[in-house]
Amino acid sequence: MLTRWICLGAWLVTSVATADDTATKVFEQRILPIFKSDQPSSCVQCHLAGVDLKNYIKPSSEATFQSLRDQGLVNFDRPEQSKILKLINMKDTDNPGANLLHAKSREVELTAFAEWLKACCGDPKLRNAPKLAANELAKPARPNEVIRFTRTDRLLESFEQNIWGQRHRCMGCHSEGSDQNRKLVKENGEQVSWMKKSAAETMTYLIRKKDLIDVEDPEKSLLLLKPLKEVEHGGGKKFLKGDLGYKGFRTWLEDFAKVSRDEYAKAADLPKSDPRRLKEFTSELWFKLSNPLPDWDDKLLQVTIYRWDERAKKWETNPIAASDRQASAKFKTWQHTLTLLAAPGSDRAKEWQRGEARLPNGKYLVKAHVDRNGRTLTDWKATMRNDDFVGQAEFQANWRNSYGAMTVVEAEKLKK
Ligand code: HEC
Ligand code: HEC
Repeated sequence: MLTRWICLGAWLVTSVATADDTATKVFEQRILPIFKSDQPSSCVQCHLAGVDLKNYIKPSSEATFQSLRDQGLVNFDRPEQSKILKLINMKDTDNPGANLLHAKSREVELTAFAEWLKACCGDPKLRNAPKLAANELAKPARPNEVIRFTRTDRLLESFEQNIWGQRHRCMGCHSEGSDQNRKLVKENGEQVSWMKKSAAETMTYLIRKKDLIDVEDPEKSLLLLKPLKEVEHGGGKKFLKGDLGYKGFRTWLEDFAKVSRDEYAKAADLPKSDPRRLKEFTSELWFKLSNPLPDWDDKLLQVTIYRWDERAKKWETNPIAASDRQASAKFKTWQHTLTLLAAPGSDRAKEWQRGEARLPNGKYLVKAHVDRNGRTLTDWKATMRNDDFVGQAEFQANWRNSYGAMTVVEAEKLKK
């Protein structure tokens, strides 16, 4: 009897020692390098700031295990189903390309944690070790609200809202695979194709490429300086500081830069979004004002277009399309593609989200504004005001997707 107990005891002791040793060994060989690495973990695929795998690691195997255990991130009986492994193994179903980019670091983290947790969970001493005090837990410093806000999927929404709806200003040359693009790639190199098939791929590319975005000073990003022609640009001047395209690109760049610089510490620091802001959709519909007035020359001209509501017998309250561009008397015409607008969550927004955004034929009203004092050039957040209004005109439209089939209104028909 006695012998058996001793034997069992001895077996227990050796088994504990082995488990403990294995856990410590695995920890030192595989977890500590992750902790000490200056490379970000696979979490950055989706969390640009606020959380990293390192946040969960303490200098010793035992303390790290206790800390994960106390936060409910370990499943003792099925260590392979521990929540920390699920966090490491998160994948993006919409953007498999991004998963691939992080596949290697994810695999290293996953196998390291899986092996180490398995060793830890086999050790009753570790399982029963005393609870850590709250301030000893290793976890991200940022609260969940901030962790949510700094996620790439939230930034992608901002990218779709601010940049993707303005992409017609650049896509002719920069969209991968178009005829024009192929020609420019031959002359200038592959980097011309920075605009990819989807918003998600484009954003991932821009974030990883890094050199088109200046995180410290977003205003100095090449994504703005090139189309402003403040530096040489093969496509010439495509933005005026303060036009809708510039505003969109700049808004997203400022957003991304703040997130990347980890500037949001608490929930109260986060910007409030405006739920009434209209969703923007890119289009191939061209609108032209012929014979713009000479005193608009070189000024930013904006059109907003309203649809006639036949049932209510009045113009819709929200504009259905908008565009802006520098006016030029020399060319005797002002013309540009339209950005289509729809209230978030509306049937129209849902329909345009599913397929191509387009306008029904019928009766419309155009309102024109001209920034005569260059206010928008000095303050990019400035919007058109009542005193910029130069007139409105009703017109009948038969919209067609083509440069050769523009909808034209005579500028002289605009009445105040
Ligand atoms: C493929 C994208 C993706 C990856 C990679 C990813 N996460 Fe997440 N994470 C998310 C999403 C989406 C949520 C929100 C989940 C939800 O609401 O259920 C989230 C939520 C969280 C939360 C909870 C905060 C909250 O919103 O309540 C934490 C903490 C977290 N992740 C940590 C991590 C860590 C640590 C890693 C790396 C080991 C990681 N995540 C990797 C997408 C990801
Ligand atoms: C008419 C064609 C054309 C249009 C339209 C155009 N570009 Fe370009 N862009 C080019 C060419 C050609 C280059 C390559 C030469 C160079 O770097 O200037 C280029 C280069 C760039 C680069 C540098 C890319 C890199 O990785 O080096 C950026 C950024 C850029 N353009 C931004 C824009 C933005 C933003 C728009 C839309 C607002 C735009 N461009 C519209 C032709 C165009």
